[in-house]
Amino acid sequence: MQYTPLIPLSDLPENTHKSVKHGTRKIALFHYEGIISALDHACIHKGGDLGEGFIQILDAGERYVACPWHGWQYNLKTGQAPHDFKDRQALYDVMVQDGMICVSDKPLSDAFRAEHESDPMADLRNLEYQTTATSLNVLGISTTNMNRDLPRPSTSESALQSALDIAASQFGAQTKMIKLRELNFRHCEGYYSRHEEACTWPCSISDMDANDGMNEIYRSMVLWADAVILATPIRWGNASSLYYKMAERLNTIQNQITIHDKVLIKHKAVSFIITGGQDNVQGVAGQLNSFFADLGFTFPPFNYLGWSRGWLAEDMENNYPRFFKSRYVKRSVVDLVTNTVKLVQQIKQMDASQLQAPKPEITEAESLSE
Ligand code: FES
Repeated sequence: MQYTPLIPLSDLPENTHKSVKHGTRKIALFHYEGIISALDHACIHKGGDLGEGFIQILDAGERYVACPWHGWQYNLKTGQAPHDFKDRQALYDVMVQDGMICVSDKPLSDAFRAEHESDPMADLRNLEYQTTATSLNVLGISTTNMNRDLPRPSTSESALQSALDIAASQFGAQTKMIKLRELNFRHCEGYYSRHEEACTWPCSISDMDANDGMNEIYRSMVLWADAVILATPIRWGNASSLYYKMAERLNTIQNQITIHDKVLIKHKAVSFIITGGQDNVQGVAGQLNSFFADLGFTFPPFNYLGWSRGWLAEDMENNYPRFFKSRYVKRSVVDLVTNTVKLVQQIKQMDASQLQAPKPEITEAESLSE
């Protein structure tokens, strides 16, 4: 077996690890319990650098490195994943000669990515769209929050329910309402901030937890819906906090455009219902439109219904009765649904294969070109 000297032993003190160059690739070196071991540095999941991973002790005191991107674990001495997993990272032989750490040019055992019997994310991974050239699936997302045991009337949610009823009764749409407060989902954990490739599709969190509540949003929004109508209250001049919690998790959709030039949202329209006792309808609409534009949605004309009673209206108990009686609201809900449905019917005529995302190259970033 051929060995290549990589770094002096003194550069890898006991209880440390790091990745170093080995020809055209990199090797993660570990120095624990007096033993030096070497694994391929690129995690077999999505390529996270194991040299920047975390050391964990599992299985009767065995040491593992946990990938810094999503936590896949590999035994330092064997490269094997823990428990019953068959996955394995490539393991290299190591010897120390003349004070240098020398690593074999070929692995002692190759990396192995096991086929798992069932893949609960297969429909998302394979983008098994349920939309067709003639489908009209309208998804309502209510982002208002409330105590499940003490429900209260919600202006935004009532208008959303009316919109879905109109879509079904007047246009023959299939409809579905998702109330975000009923989904148990994790906050975005910011894997993107470590590396753009660490924010994956399906979402890294979904991959780790098939029961995460956002999976219902991904399936309904990406695979099922032709149109989305999102309803939010105005909270201190912004959309609801549940909306933002969801929006951060939708980074996985937008990031596919960034890293793979892959547009997941095609031929879909979105419109909004924005209501509040006090104001800033336009500010909220601006934020929602800007975000959903970046996901690939198309907007019908006049794509938001806004309603508020102004800064001085502190008599919140009167909001719902007034909203409920408003002829403007009733008329606007019909217009919103009509415009949204008609746009969906038109954009389905477009050739989606020709869709282009206006994506800058990384070299065009101002901060990098200075
Ligand atoms: S766990 Fe290593 S890249 Fe995902």
